[in-house]
Amino acid sequence: MSLLGPSGSGKSTLLNLLAGIDLPDAGTIQVEGRIIGELTEKERTLFRRRHIGFVFQFFNLIPTLTVEENLLLPLELNGQLGMEPRQDAFNLLESIGLGNRRHSFPEQLSGGEQQRLAIARAVVHRPLLLLADEPTGNLDAATGERILELLLDLHRRSGATVILVTHSRDIAARAGRTLYLDSGQIREIRP
Ligand SMILES: Nc1ncnc2c1ncn2[C@@H]1O[C@H](COP(=O)(O)OP(=O)(O)OP(=O)(O)O)[C@@H](O)[C@H]1O
Ligand SMILES: [Mg+2]
Repeated sequence: MSLLGPSGSGKSTLLNLLAGIDLPDAGTIQVEGRIIGELTEKERTLFRRRHIGFVFQFFNLIPTLTVEENLLLPLELNGQLGMEPRQDAFNLLESIGLGNRRHSFPEQLSGGEQQRLAIARAVVHRPLLLLADEPTGNLDAATGERILELLLDLHRRSGATVILVTHSRDIAARAGRTLYLDSGQIREIRP
């Protein structure tokens, strides 16, 4: 699903709510049958860690960790850092063109490279729900296309729900559904 809407309309806020990072003043949010607002903060953290992948608009990479350490962090936190997941993670790093940057720190990467790392980190633990906030905003057309394919592939292979915020009608049109958020109203459109 893609989510369009003017700057300041609340797209990032909506993703934060879906991930349980923020809590709504009214209404409830259900993900996988769980009402997010009824979980304790610790339960929300564990739920997010295991089931949600989040590509933040401003990446939120950890500056003191290398590329490799940033990438493997979700697996490590979930106790999933066996040989096979580790190899899969390195293959993923190769596939996004960062195989030779394993030991660099985020500040040594370009904006587009940081964005690609943020995307890899969000999918490395194969989440049920992937929330991606303008994930191709800093990428050239060809790289953006590769990244989009990676996200769509997660949906095709594991059935994950992908919610993609974008300002591009072309990218929005690649999703099965498109929602438009403006002035507190959300509606379905055909991009
Ligand atoms: N931490 C905050 N405290 C108070 N207001 C905030 C906060 N974060 C965002 N807002 C406000 O909430 C509104 C929605 O912001 P949000 O970041 O969700 O917009 P957006 O649709 O993601 O915009 P953009 O396309 O520019 O990223 C804006 O008016 C913004 O000023
Ligand atoms: Mg935003």
